[in-house]
Amino acid sequence: MLKTPIAILGSGTGSNARALIEQAEQRNYEVKVVISSKLSAGIVHVADAAEIPSRTVRGVGEQFVDEILSIQSEFSTSVLVLAGFMRLLSKRIVEAYCGNVLNIHPALLPKFGGKGMYGIHVHKAVLEANETVSGATVHIVTENYDEGAIIAQQQIALTDTLTPEQLQQLVKNIEHTLYPSALESYILSQMK
Ligand code: GRF
Repeated sequence: MLKTPIAILGSGTGSNARALIEQAEQRNYEVKVVISSKLSAGIVHVADAAEIPSRTVRGVGEQFVDEILSIQSEFSTSVLVLAGFMRLLSKRIVEAYCGNVLNIHPALLPKFGGKGMYGIHVHKAVLEANETVSGATVHIVTENYDEGAIIAQQQIALTDTLTPEQLQQLVKNIEHTLYPSALESYILSQMK
C-alpha cells in the first residue's frame, strides 16, 4: 500500500500523536515528522520514543509559517495533522497543504468551539451547560477557529457526577481511535 506522508503539529502531551503513530502501521498514512510549537512538549518525547524525527518551531507570524513550510518540503508531507495545536493556522500554510489540514476538537462542533475553547475550558463549558452528550470532532482546518467542514464525530453520554477532568480523559480515549480512522477515511476520499 502506498502510504500518504503526514506531519503532526502540536504542543501538548502528545497522546493523539502517539495514537496516530501507533496505528500508522495498519493504516494508509506514514508519520514522517512531528512538529512541536513548544520546547520540550510531551509530543516531542512521544516522537523520540517512536524514533520519528521531530522539529521544534519557535518563530512567530511569518517566520513560523516559513519554518512549517520548510519542514513540509524537507519531509515531502501532503497532510498536516494538528493534535493539540492551540493557535490559528495561517492561510499560507493551509494553501501550501492544498487544504489538507485536519484538526481534532474535544467537543461536538459546532457547539463549544471558537476562541478560548481549548483544553479543560471546553469540558467545563459542556458540563456547565448541562449537556447530555459530548464527544470529539475531526474537521478540516481553515484560517478561522474550529470552522472547517466536519469529517467525523463520535459521541459519549454524560452522567451527572462527571468532573471536567474525567470528561477530558473520556474524550481523549475516544479521540485516540477516532482520529486515526478519520484520517484514513479522509485520505481515501481526497488523496487519490
Ligand atoms: C486534545 O484533547 C485535542 O482534542 C485538542 O488538544 C488535545 C491534545 O491532547 N485539540 P494531546 O496532546 O493529544 O494529549
